[in-house]
Amino acid sequence: AKDVGILAVDIYFPPTCVQQAELEAYDGASKGKYAIGLGQDCLAFCTELEDVISMSLTVVTSLLEKYQIDPKMIGRLEVGTETVIDKSKSIKTWLMQIFEEHGNTDIEGVDSTNACYGGTAALFNCVNWVESNSWDGRYGLVVCTDSAVYAEGPARPTGGAAAIAMLIGPHAPIAFESKYRGTHMSHVYDFYKPNLASEYPVVDGKLSQTCYLMALDSCYKRFCAKYEKFEGKQFSISDADYFVFHSPYNKLVQKSFARLYFNDFMRNSSSVDKEAREKLEPFSSLSGNESYQSRDLEKVSQQVAKNLYDEKVQPATLVPKQVGNMYTASLYAAFASVLHDKHSTLVGQRIVMFSYGSGLSSSMFSLRIQDGQHPFSLSNIDNVMNVSGKLEARHVFPPEKFVETMKVMEHRYGAKDFVTAKDTSLLSPGTFYLTQVDSMYRRFYSRK
Ligand code: ACO
Repeated sequence: AKDVGILAVDIYFPPTCVQQAELEAYDGASKGKYAIGLGQDCLAFCTELEDVISMSLTVVTSLLEKYQIDPKMIGRLEVGTETVIDKSKSIKTWLMQIFEEHGNTDIEGVDSTNACYGGTAALFNCVNWVESNSWDGRYGLVVCTDSAVYAEGPARPTGGAAAIAMLIGPHAPIAFESKYRGTHMSHVYDFYKPNLASEYPVVDGKLSQTCYLMALDSCYKRFCAKYEKFEGKQFSISDADYFVFHSPYNKLVQKSFARLYFNDFMRNSSSVDKEAREKLEPFSSLSGNESYQSRDLEKVSQQVAKNLYDEKVQPATLVPKQVGNMYTASLYAAFASVLHDKHSTLVGQRIVMFSYGSGLSSSMFSLRIQDGQHPFSLSNIDNVMNVSGKLEARHVFPPEKFVETMKVMEHRYGAKDFVTAKDTSLLSPGTFYLTQVDSMYRRFYSRK
């Protein structure tokens, strides 16, 4: 199969959100801490009506309908998630309801889990399947679905929720450059969920930032080495038009791009101009460890990379800033932001993606954009996703209501024998929602 990659995309996030500036004031944090310090505008959250299963039912159904894909044409379905609703039964099996109705139970794939990386594992599985001997000519479908919630404290404003679905096949407008992949995996306790009775992670926020940046360096070095091996020339930031990062909060994305720029400086690459070189020179003798701790380096590199950040990264920040961390869906929601903003000029361009999941697993990979045939054209993908429309249709809740909802959800996590509220007025037509969990913990959903 040629040009295997992403043919179609759809995105769903809850219609309920809280504004970071309001949350900041409510939490008694200093003014600007969440909005400027973390770089976040808004945070979306599930009410008791929605969860990772309902969001994935919504987004898969919507993708199949809007691109008019016959459910029989799906041969592999992979879900990436880190939101555990059941320790055995995969979310994929809930999604089978959609396909069974059409007589299709011949669908490989289950769920992949490792923090925010599961979506990328699912995506690689699907792409590899289409590129392999076991491919049967049908489409792959990848779903990333997560609800990111944190206990009260400094991590809470970095929550969010969303589901993304991506259709995988040959002759894709968004084709994988599969040769250029750099991966770094390692054993760390930076963010993990050892308490199975709680949805909240145990998180060492500072360590997780450093782990993220170390993983980024390592993946970038390996990515560059692979590129050089196949292309016979050095890779630098100039060789990609956009860089899309896993986005727990925007400040980390700013730091990440600055870190790539610093890497290019250390590799003596032409992407770093003379003025920047002079400013970065004092940091050239820092050891690896020192460089992660240096606040001055962080500041200077962000400052010298600012213009390139605006050009190559900023277009990927809309949805993550508006919705928050979507865990497995975050990287792909950032990518959806680029498609939304730049779909008319992307043909022929290269997009480099960085996926990070705590614990930790990380990969950098490359996508090449080309013209797609309807319904898989970039402009149609933008139409279907309707990012602006969905953002504008949201309902802003006051922080009190958000905190109250978090409390309800704490009690509901792992609970049985309850029904949810009957009021679905905030959900748009076509949205799936949870109606009941019975005495056997079986979950029931309806569609509005
Ligand atoms: N105005 C402007 N900026 C401010 C203000 C203010 N009033 N107050 C603080 N800031 C800045 C700080 O200077 C800092 O920015 P900097 O790093 O550029 O200096 C930023 O706001 C954050 O403030 P801190 O005090 O450093 O950190 P805090 O204790 O609030 O925690 C953290 C932030 C660690 C990100 C926390 O929210 C967290 O643990 N989140 C979850 C972990 C996470 O997302 N890790 C990322 C990778 S792993 C994953 O995806 C889950």
